Amino acid sequence: MDCTAGIALLGCGTVGANVARRLLHERDALERRSGIRYDVRGIAVRDAEKPRRDDLGGAPFTRDARALVDDARVDLVVECIGGTGEALELVERALDRGRSVVTANKDLIATHGPRLRALAASRGVSLRYEAAACGAIPIVRMLDDALAGDAIVALAGVMNGTCTAILSAMEAGADYADALAHAQACGYAEADPSADVDGDDAAHKLALLIQLAFGLAVISPRIRRSGIAQITKREIARAQMLGYRIRLVAAAARTPQGALAEVAPVLVRADHPFAQGRGPENAVRVVARDAGGLVFTGNGAGGAPTASAVLGDIVTALRGLREHRDLAAHALPLDAALEIAPFFAELPRHSELPRYALWDDTLLDAPVSLASQAYS
Ligand code: NAP
Ligand code: HSE
Repeated sequence: MDCTAGIALLGCGTVGANVARRLLHERDALERRSGIRYDVRGIAVRDAEKPRRDDLGGAPFTRDARALVDDARVDLVVECIGGTGEALELVERALDRGRSVVTANKDLIATHGPRLRALAASRGVSLRYEAAACGAIPIVRMLDDALAGDAIVALAGVMNGTCTAILSAMEAGADYADALAHAQACGYAEADPSADVDGDDAAHKLALLIQLAFGLAVISPRIRRSGIAQITKREIARAQMLGYRIRLVAAAARTPQGALAEVAPVLVRADHPFAQGRGPENAVRVVARDAGGLVFTGNGAGGAPTASAVLGDIVTALRGLREHRDLAAHALPLDAALEIAPFFAELPRHSELPRYALWDDTLLDAPVSLASQAYS
């Protein structure tokens, strides 16, 4: 690498456009924090003729993402396309060619993370994905660094802003379809919003967090999930009358054989942190053997908050390039998980709303003894 790092940005939509704008217009500050100069070698998009924001005028757009990844002057590839089609092929191609990768793509990591980590490690480059779980909340670093000396017992949270936005809008009287359209207009929803409302997006984030927290090679398809599309306005109103809100909760606990894990709409007491969000805000509770319970809240969706996490990963990756030792973060091997059992199956239900489990934080403390065995 010469003394200027080359960056390739793949995707310039809700997230990518915010990343591009900051890379192009806040270069001095970002270079100062990175300790290295950089050039944006290209921004790959699907439609190079599409009108873009004014502040991206003159940006180096290209439709040829493969050629951009193959450009020998590129050291770091930032993937903001989404999905596991071309994004997967491009990320594999980049890692294989010795480029470090930053991605916001939870589906990619949740489904192919164990393999991609191994590929990154074999090439001595880093694969970073802070934005992929809970947007601006630095939960990936927290699990991977700050709590690396502890043993994570369990974690749970509200991790999908689209579902929270829909459920809270319905609490205020909106119809499901209008609430979904509003979440899409705000840039919270996935390109195919069924990924949000069917619970797939939250399951992806849960799989990704299980990989980090428990060191297990759990991929998203192994996690049971149910979504919010069947929840009626009557149920929402009844829950409110009883002092609850219905929220899509993703929960996991370590067991000696693997993990309990599930995504489902549950009843959360109205004053609980999981019930406070009205849209993009996520809330996650992590229970560690020695640290005890920790709660993280913040913006989990939306272009600017997600770009904040992507930019943080870019600066870290640039620092690694500067030192000629790009730390292969998240590259340690994962253990196989023999058993992934549902989390909510045996939990108490409210007699008036028996479809929904009742959330209680002590559910995360109960598995401590199981987890102690798992880590012993
Ligand atoms: P988006 O608005 O749909 O943008 C996707 C971008 O990818 C578009 O610029 C599109 O080009 C480009 N693209 C699609 N196929 C391509 C291809 N084959 N080659 C090159 N470019 C291609 O998506 P987004 O909301 O920014 O999400 C991007 C990623 O961030 C996803 O993995 C998502 O899950 C993740 N994420 C999103 C949020 C959020 O709040 N939105 C939060 C956290 C993580 P055109 O512009 O030409 O169509
Ligand atoms: N579609 C996701 C959500 C984006 O609504 O939370 C953030 O990952």
